[in-house]
Amino acid sequence: MSKDTNTVEKRDGFQSKWGFILACIGSAVGMGNIWRFPIMVQQYGGMTFLLPYFLFVILIGASGVIEEFALGRRAKAGPVGAFGMCTKERTGSDKAGKAIGAIPIIGALMLAIGYTVVLGWIFKYTFLSISGGLYSLGTDMGAIGGTFGVTAPEAETLGEALKAMASAGFFGIGNGVWQIVALVVSLAIMVMGIAGGIEKANKIMMPVLVVLAVVVTIYSVTRPGAVEGVKYFLIPNVKNFSWMTVVAAMGQMFYSLSIAMGILYTYGSYVRKDMDIERSTTQVEVFDTGIAILAGLMIIPAVFSFSGGNPETLQAGPSLMFITLPKVFASMGFGTATGIVFFILVLLAALTSAVSLMETSVSTFMDELHWSRKKCCGLMVVIMIVLGTASSMGYGLLDFIRIFGMNFLDFFDFMTNSVMMPLAALATCVLILRVVGIDGMVKEIEQSSPFRRKKLYRVFIKYFAPICLIIILLSSIANVLGIISM
Ligand code: PHE
Repeated sequence: MSKDTNTVEKRDGFQSKWGFILACIGSAVGMGNIWRFPIMVQQYGGMTFLLPYFLFVILIGASGVIEEFALGRRAKAGPVGAFGMCTKERTGSDKAGKAIGAIPIIGALMLAIGYTVVLGWIFKYTFLSISGGLYSLGTDMGAIGGTFGVTAPEAETLGEALKAMASAGFFGIGNGVWQIVALVVSLAIMVMGIAGGIEKANKIMMPVLVVLAVVVTIYSVTRPGAVEGVKYFLIPNVKNFSWMTVVAAMGQMFYSLSIAMGILYTYGSYVRKDMDIERSTTQVEVFDTGIAILAGLMIIPAVFSFSGGNPETLQAGPSLMFITLPKVFASMGFGTATGIVFFILVLLAALTSAVSLMETSVSTFMDELHWSRKKCCGLMVVIMIVLGTASSMGYGLLDFIRIFGMNFLDFFDFMTNSVMMPLAALATCVLILRVVGIDGMVKEIEQSSPFRRKKLYRVFIKYFAPICLIIILLSSIANVLGIISM
């Protein structure tokens, strides 16, 4: 292992409290808020989904965010260093801890591949909406779908969309270029470091995102017929409520808050000891949930009034964002302007999440290999290109390779959301209960500020969170094995 001594002696860090909070909000607010949350709320019956979701955010989500911030700040390292430190204190060896800490890093890497592919499409669509290319297609569904490689909103998952696109030749040079643009922009921010790159970028992008979200929402809910759509979005529909509503709300909560991917440990490792962990957690939760609800209010009524209330139009995922919405915008007054604003908004949301996903690995490489940030960013480019190419080839040359009936990207998708996330979160619970001790955690949190939710935290970390995580894990595995259907 080479040692780049002049790069490791001083750890970079956030310079202001808001810089840190905005970076965490930047990670949390992403495609999960825009193309997943609104549709889940609508499909699982409005308030019947929202109530369990809010409960999970306040109870489990808060415990997860708090402990990741605290463990990262305590160790001044991402999950590998943080878990390693915990087992070292207890057993004298950091090996087991480091190995467990690698689970969220691998999860984040897998997620980053799909995320940057989509970020590339968003760059392309933002460009097309500004250049007018998107709207010269008018409202012709076939033409819009054609640019994307699918002709109907049938692709519900990222995997299905990629597959349709691959068969339409979408992975030709033209689109590969957009993926490279996505990588270059993300890495350009990361190369400049935490204070100089990530903090600055989030401090500019997140306030702009909030303003744009409010503008598009006001526009959308004041369209004729929108009130019906708002009702359709929010009114409880008990018929749609099932056991899976609860499991889905829990999974969405984890994904949306960026829990169990090593990100919050990593960002937490860059803050000073006087950071109020509990208050920062509440701010991240409020912003993330607020933007998700705004996204629902901007998307559901617009699609609802466009389609005349046909629920078939409302599909989650790429088809909503890249096929249905351009068509809806094109049909509205000020459609071009709204489309531009909307895609810039999505771009900011996805870019800040992609940066956070890659920063987890870059920061770990820096800590473990003692390389400079530049060199670690270089390594990241190589990993992303190799794995990204392998996964897109999973739809072409290597399509015959199946893991549990899934090709590479679907398998990565399944592994990150359904296996790695609950597993990493479960590992954190075990680590806290068995190694650090709840009192140890409380002490760390109280170094900077009183821990108001202490009692609640104890109960949740001990009983509620592990049980819920085991339920998610088992339901997901049962689902993929075809035992239950979600
Ligand atoms: N929270 C992001 C979203 O809502 C996704 C994400 C998950 C980003 C985990 C980083 C880590 O889209």
